[in-house]
Amino acid sequence: MAHEKFLLKNVGKRHSTSLAAYKASGGYDGAAAAMKLKPDELVELVKKANLRGRGGAGFPAGMKWSFLPPKRDITYLCVNADESEPPTFCNRVLLESDPHMVLEGVLIAAYATRTTTAYIYMRGEFTEQFHIMQKALDEAYAAGYFGKNILGSGYDLECYIHRGAGAYVCGEETGLIESLEGKRGWPRIKPPFPAVEGLFRKPTVVNNVETLACLPHILTRGVDWWLALGSPGSHGTKLYCVSGPVNRPGCYEAPLGITVRELIYGDDFGGGMAGGKKVKAVFPGGLSMGALRGDVFPKIPAAGSIDLKQDFDELDCKLDFDDVRKYGLLGLGTAAAVVVPDDADIRDVLLNVSRFYAHESCGQCTQCREGTAWMYKIAQRLRAGAGRSVDLDILVEVSQNMGMMPGMSICGLPDGAAWPVRTLVQRFRAEFERHIAAQPPRAAEEHIRRVNPAAYELPILGARVGA
Ligand SMILES: Cc1cc2nc3c(=O)[nH]c(=O)nc-3n(C[C@H](O)[C@H](O)[C@H](O)COP(=O)(O)O)c2cc1C
Ligand code: SF4
Repeated sequence: MAHEKFLLKNVGKRHSTSLAAYKASGGYDGAAAAMKLKPDELVELVKKANLRGRGGAGFPAGMKWSFLPPKRDITYLCVNADESEPPTFCNRVLLESDPHMVLEGVLIAAYATRTTTAYIYMRGEFTEQFHIMQKALDEAYAAGYFGKNILGSGYDLECYIHRGAGAYVCGEETGLIESLEGKRGWPRIKPPFPAVEGLFRKPTVVNNVETLACLPHILTRGVDWWLALGSPGSHGTKLYCVSGPVNRPGCYEAPLGITVRELIYGDDFGGGMAGGKKVKAVFPGGLSMGALRGDVFPKIPAAGSIDLKQDFDELDCKLDFDDVRKYGLLGLGTAAAVVVPDDADIRDVLLNVSRFYAHESCGQCTQCREGTAWMYKIAQRLRAGAGRSVDLDILVEVSQNMGMMPGMSICGLPDGAAWPVRTLVQRFRAEFERHIAAQPPRAAEEHIRRVNPAAYELPILGARVGA
């Protein structure tokens, strides 16, 4: 079913990045409506709309804004345009195709939070997008949407675009703040949360690009319209990405709550699998949220699973903030699905996933630094045809002891590393075990002796090699 588009309404149109084209389609009307309200009224309106953050955690934007101390001399707004979650590119589409929609959202959020300086923190690789955004910002300044006395309201807002150097962890809000301050992008221990002590130790709001791009539409179309879209507790539309061997990989807009199956097979979305392939697995919320089983395993419980009892078809999982948790996923994440076809080797998937997080851990916390490295080493061993059944247990055990959930780390990166590894082992254990059973006798021992003779003698998490 075709859905009306709001966030992507200008994508593909001629001159969609220009102020004139944006204004011709009602652009900046939302900001004008917002500025007729008092900032606190605007915060209440966004709270009523229950606009949940699109950056991954789904935290309600209005509530986050209301955590700012009532009495404050200065407030900063940081726009999170780091977008490094594999395989996510919905912010990129907005930045490069409709920069004024993003800027209008920045203006509305800044006015609501009484911010006088906003920073747009852009992923280092976004070179073209940076130039598009800078040009749009210059145009918006010239037209009086930024700078002094905006729209004659007496409100002043300066906005700067800052380019990162390409680290995943700089998307974490306090890593972003540190990086903006010119330091190494190491996340901070919380509390204090940014709302109280953020950029330059001042009250700060960090919001995702897409979250902000929703604001003009809520202002012009109204809260009731917004609440009627999506599913209970998950309102509005969402930009979904789908990649992998589907017929139409891309970024699509639909109300929250479409199923993973619709996203892969729907004619308005992925259009089905290319070349007659089937879905073996899908990571529906970006890698960090974990994997579901595809349609090669309908209605079969995951063999050897530890806490997965369901025997239903996992592609029926709804992409909203709540349903995903019923399937053991970490959350909705970025709603960017990567599809793994039936002819892929699950060991390659595990290797790719674990390599990414081991590379991106900033190294401050032992459990994250060592845990991600261990998982990668074990994945390499499994891929080399030298795995052991106990390696699968170790992967699960490590993944349960390294993240914020058990209180082991400063930021959520290791939770994002744990979930894909754990869900892959839980759901595809039978395939891993088949590969292990097909290895030559003593392959694991020989591999470890060759790669790291010292480790051969050491007990690993209580399990002696070859035990
Ligand atoms: C390792 C890590 C990477 C993150 N990367 C991003 C990112 O690239 N973009 C983003 O908006 N949020 C990212 N987040 C979430 C942010 O910390 C923060 O929750 C978000 O920017 C808040 O915006 P929202 O409330 O509008 O969603 C990341 C979190 C973690 C733990
Ligand atoms: S959890 Fe990992 S990425 Fe986050 S601060 Fe600690 S070491 Fe760095």
